[in-house]
Amino acid sequence: MLPRMVFDFIDGGSGSEATLLENRTALDRIRLVPSAPIDVSTRTQSVNLFGKSYSMPLIIGPTGLAAITWPKAELLLAAAAGQAGIPYVMSTAASARMEDVASAGSGSKWFQLYPFRDRAITQNILRRADDLGFDVVEITVDNPIPGTRLRDNRNGFSVPFVWTLPKLASVAAHPGWAMKMLKAGAPRMELVSEAFGQQEAPTIAAVLQQQLDPAISWDYIKTLRDLWPRALVVKGMLDPSQVRHAISAGVDGIVISNHGGRQLDGAVSSIEMLPEFVAESGGRLTLLIDSGFRTGTDIAKALAMGAHAVQIGRPTLFASATGGQPAIERALSLLRNELDIAQALMGVRSMSEFTPRMVRL
Ligand SMILES: Cc1cc2nc3c(=O)[nH]c(=O)nc-3n(C[C@H](O)[C@H](O)[C@H](O)COP(=O)(O)O)c2cc1C
Repeated sequence: MLPRMVFDFIDGGSGSEATLLENRTALDRIRLVPSAPIDVSTRTQSVNLFGKSYSMPLIIGPTGLAAITWPKAELLLAAAAGQAGIPYVMSTAASARMEDVASAGSGSKWFQLYPFRDRAITQNILRRADDLGFDVVEITVDNPIPGTRLRDNRNGFSVPFVWTLPKLASVAAHPGWAMKMLKAGAPRMELVSEAFGQQEAPTIAAVLQQQLDPAISWDYIKTLRDLWPRALVVKGMLDPSQVRHAISAGVDGIVISNHGGRQLDGAVSSIEMLPEFVAESGGRLTLLIDSGFRTGTDIAKALAMGAHAVQIGRPTLFASATGGQPAIERALSLLRNELDIAQALMGVRSMSEFTPRMVRL
């Protein structure tokens, strides 16, 4: 369905991909403890995050260059999320303009910020996100420099595409994808191109590396906090000892994440660290989590262990690749249905009834 270099860009992790694998292994190790009999004839998945109500504890997380899966994929992801009653997080590295994402569909749009070395540009983007009505900003902190994506290096995956014979052969073997890209034009990182001009670099990671600010610290998060009027989330935390800094910087929530195994190879899984974050935050932060979540029972495990919602990256990208918006909607409804079955079988009527006694590590 996708040429090798595109599949690998999405599917791959960093280095030996030990963390990519660990994300699944750690979730699979956890066992659920169902309670019965409990009357579960009435069930709801709705949750409240940062003052807004959503239909389930799921968020489509930020992924750069999503239109590599399907033309205008960011807009389709946003519309499908809106349809499902959940938030969509637009990436700084998106292949769509902020204005177009902001007006796609009727749902809640969040914005993921990669702070740039040029702080005036970063602050200008924040201001635009505010003017456009994005509800939440997630600042990604686990990417001061990019991880080593060996699959991208091997495949010579770059923006803009540089065509070599093996790449052309792989694309020719996927005419459906090739036709869509030819018609829509090769995707580019719109916001990055707008801010800095079209970037020429051997890999996507290299493009970002040229511009990303490796000097972000809690002081700078505090500065951005003061500029952003609505909920502020820090994405990419794995060390619970940083929680007190997040709280004193005035952050509202965090995403416990290893970036889907794409940054520090060998990093711990986010689900393993969740209980320590719950203990450290003592109810003062909204706890979101991502990296490896694929099923309704995965979501149930995170909720039972104290997360408020789960973000996903690859599942909805691969859904997009199989059929655009209807396929993304189908993926979301499968996840909702799996969560509904999981909660019914566990004796859980509403998301607030999940408790730690429902899991065995
Ligand atoms: C293709 C791809 C692009 C991504 N781009 C971004 C990005 O631009 N900003 C960001 O904060 N995270 C990015 N991520 C990380 C995701 O937001 C998320 O942390 C990760 O995908 C979650 O793991 P999962 O894919 O196993 O669900 C990206 C992930 C993928 C797979």
